[in-house]
Amino acid sequence: MSLYEEIGGDAAITTVIADYWQRVSADPLLSSWFSTIDSTLLRFHLHAYLTVALDGPENYEGRSMRHAHAGLKVTHQAFDLLVVRLGETLAAIGVTPENILRMDARLTMLRPVIVEVHH
Ligand code: HEM
Repeated sequence: MSLYEEIGGDAAITTVIADYWQRVSADPLLSSWFSTIDSTLLRFHLHAYLTVALDGPENYEGRSMRHAHAGLKVTHQAFDLLVVRLGETLAAIGVTPENILRMDARLTMLRPVIVEVHH
């Protein structure tokens, strides 16, 4: 079973997004990346993001991860923080530490195409 199905599928994702959005926008080191983006659009993006991160069943048909993040100057620090915040959200809805590590491992594979600024 995919992590997406294990945490409760689409219904759980909606809850996750609300909680995650709070954490990301309250984080001073992350909010600058997202503050200029329309929040409806961002929620839509987060849905796609979580589908990718949790290996969901929906076919993601947006831009490639490299293309979507090109020019955003994402740092390793921001990347790490985003993964930590998502881990906190998943822990809050009762996802097991083992499954949170599975999510971390999936996201870590994307690091080389998303991070552009190496400090
Ligand atoms: C951890 C792995 C990540 C995944 C799986 C991911 C996934 C995505 C997805 C699916 C989109 C939507 C692309 C589209 O619809 O065209 C997106 C957009 C975006 N991501 Fe990420 N992302 C990740 C990390 C990050 C990080 C670390 C940052 C910055 C701190 C970031 C900032 C953004 C921004 C600002 C957009 C909107 C770009 C735009 O619409 O112009 N992402 N991401």
